Amino acid sequence: MKKKIIVGNWKMSPATPEEAKSIFLKIKRSASRVRGVSVVICPSDVHLMALAKLSSKGNVRVGVQNVFWEDKGSFTGQISPAQAWNAGARYALVGHSEKRKLGETSADAAKKLFAVIRDGMTGIICVGEDTRDKDGNFFALLKDQLLASLAHISRHMLLHSTIVAYEPVWEIGRSDLQAMKSRDVHETAIFIRKVINDAFGPDIARALPILYGGSVSPENAHSIVYEGGVDGLLVGRQSLEPQAFSVIIKSMHPRHARK
Ligand code: PGA
Repeated sequence: MKKKIIVGNWKMSPATPEEAKSIFLKIKRSASRVRGVSVVICPSDVHLMALAKLSSKGNVRVGVQNVFWEDKGSFTGQISPAQAWNAGARYALVGHSEKRKLGETSADAAKKLFAVIRDGMTGIICVGEDTRDKDGNFFALLKDQLLASLAHISRHMLLHSTIVAYEPVWEIGRSDLQAMKSRDVHETAIFIRKVINDAFGPDIARALPILYGGSVSPENAHSIVYEGGVDGLLVGRQSLEPQAFSVIIKSMHPRHARK
C-alpha cells in the first residue's frame, strides 16, 4: 500500500521562531508513533533552517511554500531552489492558490515545478478551481491548469518527484462542516487521474500521489482520504494546532475509528 502523505502549510504563521520550534517538536513527537504516513511541514522561509535541523532523525520533513525558478541572478526578494535545498527543504509547494491570486500563472508554476525537481526536491503542484458551476465547466479549467503546470517536466520527474494537491479554492479556509464531500473529492481525483492517464499513460496515472486540501480537520480527514480515494492531505490552519494535526496524522490508519 502507498504511504499516506500529510503536508502542513503554515502560511505566514507563527510569528516567532520559539513558537515554530515548539509546534514542530510536538508534531514530530506524535508523528514518530505513526507508521505508514509521511509528514511534511512547510513553514515560512524564516523558520526553514531551524526546523530542518530539528527534522533530522525523525519522520517529519520540511518543505518551502514557494521558490523562484532561477538558480542565480539579481532577483531581489526571491529564494532559489538551490537555497531552499541547502536550507534543508526536501519538498516545495508550487502554484498554491494564494500565490496564483497574487498573479502567479500556470506558466510560472510550470517553470518553478521544473526547477524544484531539477534541484532535488519533490514538487507539490497545487491546482483547483475558483468556483464550481453546475454544468461542470470547472473540469475543463482544472485540466488546463494541471497540464499547463506540468508542461516542462519529464515522465521520470512526474513518476518520482511530483505530488498533485487538489485544492478547490472555494473550500480553503472554511469550517470543517463545509469541507468538500468525500464523493466530490473522489469524482475529482478520478478526473485528475484520467487527465494524467491520457497525457502520460497508466503507469504514471496510477503512481502519482494526489492530495486533497481545503478545510481539512480531525473530523473529516479519514473519510476524505479513504472515501475520497486520495493519497493524503494538504492542511492549512489545523497544521498549526499540534493536537488536531496529530489526530489527522493518526487518522491515516486504515482502521482509524472516529470517537
Ligand atoms: P485550510 O488551508 O486547511 O486552512 O483550509 C488549506 C491550504 O490553503 O492549503
